Amino acid sequence: MRVLLGVCGGIAAYKAAELVRALRGAGHEVRCALTRSAESFVTPLTLEVLSTERVYRQEYLQPTETGEELHVELAAWAEAICVVPATAHTIGRLAHGLADDFLTTTVLAFDGPIIVAPAMHSIMWMQPAVQSNAELLRKRGVAIVGPVIGELASGGSGVGRLVDLTVLLDVIERSQGSGELAGLTVLVTAGPTHEAIDPVRFLSNRSSGKMGFALAAEAARRGARSVLVAGPVELPTPAGVERIDVVSAAEMHEAVERRAARADLIIMVAAVGDFRVSSTAHRKLEKSELSGGLSLQQTPDILKGLAESAPGALRVGFAAETENLEAGACRKLEQKDAAFIIANDVSRSDIGFGQNENEVLVFSRDAEPQLIPKASKDAIARSLFDILGPAVLAHGAALSRVAS
Ligand code: PMT
Repeated sequence: MRVLLGVCGGIAAYKAAELVRALRGAGHEVRCALTRSAESFVTPLTLEVLSTERVYRQEYLQPTETGEELHVELAAWAEAICVVPATAHTIGRLAHGLADDFLTTTVLAFDGPIIVAPAMHSIMWMQPAVQSNAELLRKRGVAIVGPVIGELASGGSGVGRLVDLTVLLDVIERSQGSGELAGLTVLVTAGPTHEAIDPVRFLSNRSSGKMGFALAAEAARRGARSVLVAGPVELPTPAGVERIDVVSAAEMHEAVERRAARADLIIMVAAVGDFRVSSTAHRKLEKSELSGGLSLQQTPDILKGLAESAPGALRVGFAAETENLEAGACRKLEQKDAAFIIANDVSRSDIGFGQNENEVLVFSRDAEPQLIPKASKDAIARSLFDILGPAVLAHGAALSRVAS
């Protein structure tokens, strides 16, 4: 495969040199184009030696031997373009179709898969302007890979670190499909369950399914096979999503277990009923028969069980808490053996159950909790996939390293 690496001026630029080696080691041809500021971080000579190809700087006005303009010739040569590290400035220029240097001009002349790997301080990455530029690119089919949570060059930690190079290599190699999650299966559960008491009454909760449906839609948008196990809700099926409707916790359990072993990422958003009645009546019960109370049985913990039935999948749970958000989320991370727990405060009336907006805290084993501030559930789903997407790719890469 012929890969053009667009290198921008950020501290992670030295990793582009490592990526050149990794790509060449995997048998690919690599050429590099540097922005002007990239040269302050990595020398053209380094990239030239590693790639054994000429490095493109700002010479786009020079004529070529074939008479073709250089940026057009290079764009025709490339089968994929990967911009790494992508700065906020270059993301903005790409999003708005600006062509004020050789790299952006070449990207505009290119008609193929574009991968953008941002790296910057978390405050910069979370700026609405940067987020909306990244989203514009994503909507046009550009694979935005990362950034991930971790230590930052400027000190402290947060979201902003360049994604692991093995992940990037994997995305580049799969880029002939479309979307950064092409080839992966994402299984999402959504909505409540109904635990029947008799033919007309049931135990349930206030989940509308909106959060889970938004995540399933986002997984499909990013190129994954998106499978949605939905409790009883009235929502339309998002484009590109395979939907399986269930009613009870037992049905949801069975539907998830049947598909879990083939999933790369499982996100349990459903508010699964924790209890069902010990024996469901086949006729409508009289009030007098109910006044003595209900005998309840605990339902199986679906997420916890996945550690055994889907050990290879990246498993993610949600935590619906009304107090002690952090303590509850950390406990669930351990008890349910999940890689991530996404906690939301369901005592608030403006987010969570039934609302169009949410605000979540992302808990994982190796990083500080990350707040995703209040936004529409679609926007929360996008931000979550900015974290979960690279994580599932890294998880897959780690598994294949263990297997080989
Ligand atoms: O559907 P919406 O109206 O959009 O609302 C979204 C939401 C508030 C339902 C969602 O954001 C959310 O918090 N979902 C998790 C609800 C929940 O059941 O939380 P929990 O803390 O009780 O459970 C923790 C985790 O265990 C969850 O991933 C849950 O799916 C899972 N679980 C729970 C019980 C059970 N028997 N099996 C499970 O797998």
